[in-house]
Amino acid sequence: MARVRLRGIEVAYDDVGSGPPLVFLHGFPFNRSMWQEQKEALVEHHRIITLDLRGHGETDVGPSPATMEEMALDVGALLDRLDIERATLAGLSMGGYVALAFCRRFPLRVRALVLADTRAQSDTEDGKANRSTQAAQILREGMEAITDSLLPKQLASETLAKRPDIVRRVRAMIIGTRPEGAAAALEGMARRQDQRSFVSRIIAPVLIIVGSEDTITPIADAELLHREIGGSRLEIIEAAAHLSNLERPEEFNRALAKFLADLEQ
Ligand code: MLT
Repeated sequence: MARVRLRGIEVAYDDVGSGPPLVFLHGFPFNRSMWQEQKEALVEHHRIITLDLRGHGETDVGPSPATMEEMALDVGALLDRLDIERATLAGLSMGGYVALAFCRRFPLRVRALVLADTRAQSDTEDGKANRSTQAAQILREGMEAITDSLLPKQLASETLAKRPDIVRRVRAMIIGTRPEGAAAALEGMARRQDQRSFVSRIIAPVLIIVGSEDTITPIADAELLHREIGGSRLEIIEAAAHLSNLERPEEFNRALAKFLADLEQ
């Protein structure tokens, strides 16, 4: 693990392998360790950067709200520090929001995009209110207060029933997130821009992935992205919910590896 001071906070990241740069952006309220299987599968032919977004994992919290734009600027600053001009960005859920914010801000720095279990729409008014309620609860009672209700939304019923290792790992990531960091990210997500009109202007190659049982960002959200982004690919991962990369790493990695290999043709 490396740490670097960027934009007033210490950011934790890993930078392994060599080849075309590939940056992974985790979801909420997780950390860079959620990409372990993708890192192992792709490191032979890629330079892989995984970072903890502000307020998550081993990265400092920073001021609230932690907007998607702030996180995208952090990613840009990290790439500057690593001397990487252009990279493929792969973001899951909140990481996808950050990838879209990055692409909007730095379109020429994006070689390609992978948008997994994410969406272009901003929050509804109800969604924003729920985020505020959840942030207040987390700050009052800690991450444990939301863990049991979050798990069945993140994972497919089969994963919950038959994969205690994955359930443990996801639980540990949630509980390991600092309440102040999670609350800042919730406020940041509630303020995020609607990207529907932007996504149709993306010119980079895009792969969209979604778990067939994802209820947080369901297939309809992935189909909307697919419709709006010309030339994009859509991959539906069966028997996975919101954390498709963790629940079905083989299928996820196969789709990702094929997309990345085609970029090099
Ligand atoms: C995530 O996994 O990053 C979150 O579920 C995203 C969200 O709450 O919108």
